[in-house]
Amino acid sequence: MIHGGFFSESSTSSEVKLAKQQALKRIAEAAHAYLLTHSALETVAFAVQMLEDDPLFNAGTGSQIQSDGIIRMSAAIMDGQSARFSGVINLENVQNPIQVAVQLFSEDDRVLGGEGAGKFAKEAGFPFYNPEIPQRRGEYEAKLKATGIGTVGCVALDGLGRLAAATSTGGKGFERVGRISDSATVAGNYANEFCAVSCTGVGEDIVSGAIAAKIVTRVSDGMAATVAVERTFNELKSFDGFAGAIVLTATGEMIWQDSHPHMVWAHTDGESTKVFD
Ligand code: GLY
Repeated sequence: MIHGGFFSESSTSSEVKLAKQQALKRIAEAAHAYLLTHSALETVAFAVQMLEDDPLFNAGTGSQIQSDGIIRMSAAIMDGQSARFSGVINLENVQNPIQVAVQLFSEDDRVLGGEGAGKFAKEAGFPFYNPEIPQRRGEYEAKLKATGIGTVGCVALDGLGRLAAATSTGGKGFERVGRISDSATVAGNYANEFCAVSCTGVGEDIVSGAIAAKIVTRVSDGMAATVAVERTFNELKSFDGFAGAIVLTATGEMIWQDSHPHMVWAHTDGESTKVFD
């Protein structure tokens, strides 16, 4: 299962919608083909890298610009089997933040932010890359809020029954320098042996709702996944939390949920692929 953030009917065209549907279908199917010969952990990184490389989505190339004119990206990966989590927060000038998170996976210090994350990426051999696209600079210069709330993510279950989750974002756009996204926290990206979740939406709301960790905990404690998702999203209502999530269980149950219209998503089991409409 993959997601590509939110799509706003009122502010984006039918051409953009079709392009996102086609991109999500292509990436879901490519990731499933990859999953046949790779682990869930390798596959979520593969899928999120493809999403980062597509400028339609707010992660990697095409990321939104912060209030000081600089792009800072965040990404995380989690292996459900080993319960290992690694991530980068507010990383600048790399093409694929998710690959820097992958590189951190075997380190002792596994979540790095800002300058330290950049230094680590440079030392690990990630070349300088400017992820800006002209559309984002135009939006920034016009001081417009970008269209739609973005983030990308993937959850996967492999042939050995292992779950993994990965999430990557360019943030909210126009945010204060130093603001932390949910994507490289356990609220936005979490997996264990029972359930894997990747979130999108407003980071502050996702953290307030502790969405990914809460859904995974509830499923681990025996709650049906549909009930866990419903209850967790109901808890957002008291503060009108804006969020979406893709949820995959160890039995292969796939659930997608958003609090507001419309998260864009795709999923495939190799035989049939479904895309948001
Ligand atoms: N979910 C992306 C962000 O708010 O930073």
